[in-house]
Amino acid sequence: MSDQTFKKNILCVGAGYVGGPTMTVIANKCPEYKVTVVDISQPRIDAWNSDELPIYEPGLDERVFNVRGKNLFFSTDINKGIKEADIIFVSVNTPTKTFGEGAGKASDLQYLEKIARQIKEVAESDKIVVEKSTIPVRAAEALERILHSDDSKTHFEILSNPEFLAEGTAIDDMEAPDRVLIGSKDTPSGLKARDQLVEVYTHWVPRERVITTNLWSSELSKLVANAFLAQRISSINSIAAICEMTQADVQEVSRAIGKDTRIGAKFLNAGVGFGGSCFRKDILNMVYLCEFYGLHDVAQFWAQVVKMNEYSMDRFVKRILRTLFNTLVGKKIAVYGFAFKPDTGDTRDAPAITICKSLLREKAHVCITDPHALKNAALDLEGVEGAVEYELDPYKAAEGAHAIALVTEWKQFKDLDYKRIFDSMSKPASIFDGRNLLDHKALYDIGFNVYPLGKPDLDHFQNED
Ligand code: NAD
Ligand code: UGA
Repeated sequence: MSDQTFKKNILCVGAGYVGGPTMTVIANKCPEYKVTVVDISQPRIDAWNSDELPIYEPGLDERVFNVRGKNLFFSTDINKGIKEADIIFVSVNTPTKTFGEGAGKASDLQYLEKIARQIKEVAESDKIVVEKSTIPVRAAEALERILHSDDSKTHFEILSNPEFLAEGTAIDDMEAPDRVLIGSKDTPSGLKARDQLVEVYTHWVPRERVITTNLWSSELSKLVANAFLAQRISSINSIAAICEMTQADVQEVSRAIGKDTRIGAKFLNAGVGFGGSCFRKDILNMVYLCEFYGLHDVAQFWAQVVKMNEYSMDRFVKRILRTLFNTLVGKKIAVYGFAFKPDTGDTRDAPAITICKSLLREKAHVCITDPHALKNAALDLEGVEGAVEYELDPYKAAEGAHAIALVTEWKQFKDLDYKRIFDSMSKPASIFDGRNLLDHKALYDIGFNVYPLGKPDLDHFQNED
């Protein structure tokens, strides 16, 4: 098909974890649209155009290969993309600011602003500009000012369309979302633009699942959704600490409370703490906004969610230290899993980073194994002092180790031959199951001392007498 024969041209700026999968699904579901994904990173675009895509996500490869070169294109020619686009999704990174005012909390909006200026300079016709990146509430105001900062006749209509996909399930989340959220201005041109975006999604999403709101509610809802999800994890992790003191079992508690439909069963898995590029960043962003608006008690309330997360990681390491006779010097610890969750190679803000750094500070010999995240792990720990190894084979990683610390619940780890692993380890051999993935009783019977999270220990010391 030539460009003219496509019904609409969609551009996405930012070929990352969001831009890549979301546009792949749109291209698959809307064959009459031309979808182009652009990025400033040539290596990233080259990877999207190769057989080895830059991100690992179940179901992504076949969907990309199905439409790439037909109605899905990856390119670094951002200006060409802007010129031909009717709808521009902006999906650039919005990390936590590391400098100046708001450092450590506020969002760094430099990438968003840069692309807004480029759109303004290059565009020759009216565009719908969609905020797909997660941004502070009222960011559309700033975007609008930049886009309309001269007297050009080009009109830009800004929509907010935050993304709720989770990594590892990005394709399913995109193809069968709980909801799609679209925020617009309540003006004739705002509502017209909104309807155009609704039309894109209703190719496959039932109309009743497409929620439309004003711009500010949409922007804020994204931060609130992540804050609520993260808050549930910190809540259950705080309960795990009480469980370990009282011989209660956090999984039993989760089940008992989750059956209450007012509470619900999801996101109540206790663990070593939440990771990923967004939860921490988005809560801190909300904390910053609250402080900015003088809502100090509200800011403190949400800041505690992040604090509890740090406490959870710290508690996990302290438990290892305490159990291994208060010294880790020279002891080999096999770290099972480095990705921030299974089914992704992404390690951004992964609890494993903090945990490994703490173990290395105690002078442990850390051997990390992960099916998809070893490259990223090596980058994350580059320059960190201490003995650290990367080993794809979990059996080799455990050889001679005093303990296994399971940090990411890859299902591969569930099916290993733990008798073989036990036989190859230093004794006494311990397993700290930071995600409650494994069969603890079976491991205990093999001979391991087992330390599940938020559950009674199963160790042979206390059961000897
Ligand atoms: P990412 O870092 O993987 O991708 C962002 C991409 O934007 C990078 O490849 C970068 O090179 C590119 N970029 C930056 N400035 C550019 C410019 N001026 N022109 C062209 N390309 C540019 O980030 P991500 O994980 O895809 O997240 C993107 C946004 O979506 C963030 O705001 C994030 O908070 C939000 N979000 C992420 C997830 C997730 O699961 N990762 C889920 C929902 C929302
Ligand atoms: C999360 C949200 O789930 C998405 O809706 C959102 O779009 C995305 O953030 C974002 O804005 O970036 P993601 O971080 O990819 O998605 O993955 P989650 O499944 O939410 O897991 C995040 C972290 O929480 C992981 O480290 C995971 O191990 C941890 N977690 C999750 C728990 O410790 N317990 C749980 O019960 C659930």
